[in-house]
Amino acid sequence: MSVAKLIVGNWKMNGLLDDSRTRAQELADAARNHKSADFEMVLCPPAPLIAMVGDIVKDTDIKWGAQDCHEQVSGAHTGDISAQMLKDLGCSYVILGHSERRQNHGETSAQVNAKAQAAQAAGLIAIICIGETDAQRSAGKADEVVTEQLRASVPETATPENTVIAYEPIWAIGTGKTASADDIRHMHALIRAKASEKVKNGAWLKLLYGGSVKQGNAGEILHIANVDGVLVGGASLKSGEFWGIAQASAEGKALSA
Ligand code: PGA
Repeated sequence: MSVAKLIVGNWKMNGLLDDSRTRAQELADAARNHKSADFEMVLCPPAPLIAMVGDIVKDTDIKWGAQDCHEQVSGAHTGDISAQMLKDLGCSYVILGHSERRQNHGETSAQVNAKAQAAQAAGLIAIICIGETDAQRSAGKADEVVTEQLRASVPETATPENTVIAYEPIWAIGTGKTASADDIRHMHALIRAKASEKVKNGAWLKLLYGGSVKQGNAGEILHIANVDGVLVGGASLKSGEFWGIAQASAEGKALSA
């Protein structure tokens, strides 16, 4: 099992053909020139851009993925995309249960669980997102909420090979507020312990932190125990900044050595 840090860019609903092509090309050039065993980079563009981005980065170490999938293989589901279709486009990963989908589309943990099973069955790695709101944290319920989301969203079929868990406190997403190192350390230790009760070899599960990660804080975050990578939104839209975040994984390694 690789110990490389997983650096995932979630482009969300941003980008048109031209700017996305340029961003993917810049990252592909950087990856060709600076091969690194310290990290694995994954780009998750909006669905209409997946094929183009995949085509640009396919001869590099950069992998690509999607931001959601349907739980069914095919059928009468207008506007939805199956995990098999994503696999067919060369995707390796799919982000599932992002808080924006839970909030804006009413996705439940049970649906996320079903989607994760579909993704795994299609040969994709499911990046399952969990995280508490500001109000839940203020009420002292962060641990409880995250534990319950983990229990309900992660399927019995999860293994360290087919599943990644991303802890994204909702109040830190796109706000410029990052969770403190102590909060991240605490929550990732909790997630590791709870996930290990459910997933065989849970010590090998990759746990990502997400929420206002940028070049300036990535080194510190990637160095925290049980942080195996980062899920990056806004800062993944600038190729230089995103590449800098990935480079910080080497810094983390040096610090923890
Ligand atoms: P952010 O988003 O980096 O813009 O805070 C992270 C995410 O939503 O995955």
